[in-house]
Amino acid sequence: MLSWEELEEKEAKPVKAETQAKQVEQPKVALQTGSLSDRLERAKKAVADFDKQTGEEALEGMGSRVDVDQKAMINCRADVNQLVPFKYDWAWQKYLDGCANHWMPQEINMTPDVALWKNEDGLSEDERKIVMRSLGFFSTADSLVANNLVLSIYRHITNPECRQYLLRQSFEEAIHTHAYQYVIQSLGMDEAELFNMYREVPSVARKASWALDFTKELDDPNFETGEAEQDKKLLRNLIAFYCVLEGIFFYCGFTQILSMGRRNKMTGTSEQFQYILRDESMHLNFGIDMINQIKLENPHLWDEEMQDQAAGMILQGMELEIEYARDTMPRGVLGMNASMMEEYLNYIANRRLVQLGLPEEFPKAENPFPWMSEIMDLRKEKNFFETRVIEYQTGGALNWD
Ligand SMILES: [Fe+2]
Ligand SMILES: [Fe+2]
Repeated sequence: MLSWEELEEKEAKPVKAETQAKQVEQPKVALQTGSLSDRLERAKKAVADFDKQTGEEALEGMGSRVDVDQKAMINCRADVNQLVPFKYDWAWQKYLDGCANHWMPQEINMTPDVALWKNEDGLSEDERKIVMRSLGFFSTADSLVANNLVLSIYRHITNPECRQYLLRQSFEEAIHTHAYQYVIQSLGMDEAELFNMYREVPSVARKASWALDFTKELDDPNFETGEAEQDKKLLRNLIAFYCVLEGIFFYCGFTQILSMGRRNKMTGTSEQFQYILRDESMHLNFGIDMINQIKLENPHLWDEEMQDQAAGMILQGMELEIEYARDTMPRGVLGMNASMMEEYLNYIANRRLVQLGLPEEFPKAENPFPWMSEIMDLRKEKNFFETRVIEYQTGGALNWD
């Protein structure tokens, strides 16, 4: 058991306050010994001592009311514990839209998939490879995103309405990892093989390690924003995760699995992926809005060098995804092949560049999979910067119309 002194020492560890409140000594927590009346007496005395020590200073230390003009995406000194007054209505709206689209993996019927997967003649070898690679890549990719959100990004985004969305997104990433685990378990796959692909299969591992490099820049507990070079590291992390990992690295696998579903194969898995894709489209749009808002508020960060780096990152991501497409589709399968996917990825890279305000690199690229756009683009989510108006349903049921 801890001694009183040890307990005091433990309590005294400094905690970084995110409010403007002055740090005051907290009432000592007594060990829960003695009768209830003794313990209540001690509690009352501790509170009285706290009041005596802080007095009105405690209230003064809570800072003044938050003015909406003080709010900023990064490096903001206004109280982050106070959600309103809203400054970024688009962020709050995305939080509401995310909640309106809530779903859980167990709601989806996996029975036809189990029968098809266990039937030796059910799927071709190439189709089986696609299912395995997709589940292998995504089962860890969403954990990379969630960990980056919670451990690297969250504390540097100093705006409560954006943080509200980041919390919602973090939970959605947990649901996605749950969905992949649920599919892997339902199909009776080798879990160790699948969950280790991000270490062991080169085309999967290279995507994961490319993204992890951008997490490493931020996950030092001493990393702080405030200087331009540090702020640029945060911006690079946001571009790497939102525009490349979620905005490019997911596209080959999503297209392959959804194409399988369109052919009436692995329909449960495909439905899981459709729900995930619906969430991911919102994550991507939120990320782009967040990046563009940071650019607006901090134009000095978006200099020529940064623009060049951002464009380079999109192209690197595209190259890695093309490599993944070649690895997962050595031949034509499901009405597609690696060169069609390459064209699609040129088209996707163009879109990411334009969304960041950069020029297209592939003016001739067309979308060989227009049905993917129908799924992703025709829903009514309002993108603040693109002013596309799309409408979300209020229930959790999947409805693409
Ligand atoms: Fe996800
Ligand atoms: Fe996501």
